[in-house]
Amino acid sequence: MTTVTTDEATATVLELLPEIGGIGDAELRSAVTRIWVNAWQSSVWDELAHVPKSPELPTKRTLITHTRAVTRIAGHMVDVESEMHGVTISKDETLAAALLHDVCKLHEFERDTGDDDAGEGGGSGDNAGGRNGGRPGARFSRIGTIYQHGFLGAHWMAREGLSEDMIHAVIAHTPLSAVVPKTQEAVIVHYADFVDSDVQLLDAGRTLFCKRRK
Ligand SMILES: [Fe+2]
Repeated sequence: MTTVTTDEATATVLELLPEIGGIGDAELRSAVTRIWVNAWQSSVWDELAHVPKSPELPTKRTLITHTRAVTRIAGHMVDVESEMHGVTISKDETLAAALLHDVCKLHEFERDTGDDDAGEGGGSGDNAGGRNGGRPGARFSRIGTIYQHGFLGAHWMAREGLSEDMIHAVIAHTPLSAVVPKTQEAVIVHYADFVDSDVQLLDAGRTLFCKRRK
């Protein structure tokens, strides 16, 4: 577990994720912040900014920049769909779900030091520790291989008393989920995640999410 204090962690989360400030409801803003703080404090990651977006992407692609991009894209999508089609979409709930859609990765990934005793997810090749400007690479943790992606974030959201709809948006965001988005907010989070993920995957020469079956 990281040794960062709650005050330090809260300040860092708010600094690294300024999009939290875009949530109008103060209680929801605090809940989203607390979930990130608790997830980080109970994780193996000393530097929140160094947690990668994915073990299959270069480590410069971080969870923080992905989360920020998805949240901003989702916010714009809410504005466009509301204006063009008069659809009622909760911007606060969309932003909160976007901010939390991948927070579970703090526990689904662990540092890849290049040791031979790599977990089931295996090492991440050139992401091995010490060769990325001091940023450790990542591999899937045991939790990352035995829990459905998104489950932990949804669990933390339920523990904070967040709405079923926001939890649904997190559960449904991933193509790994059998749950199809059933709210406008969940549709938007799903596609906002696809856009940012596929832009990065294309850049890295990997298979796009939109072309994966599972
Ligand atoms: Fe995800």
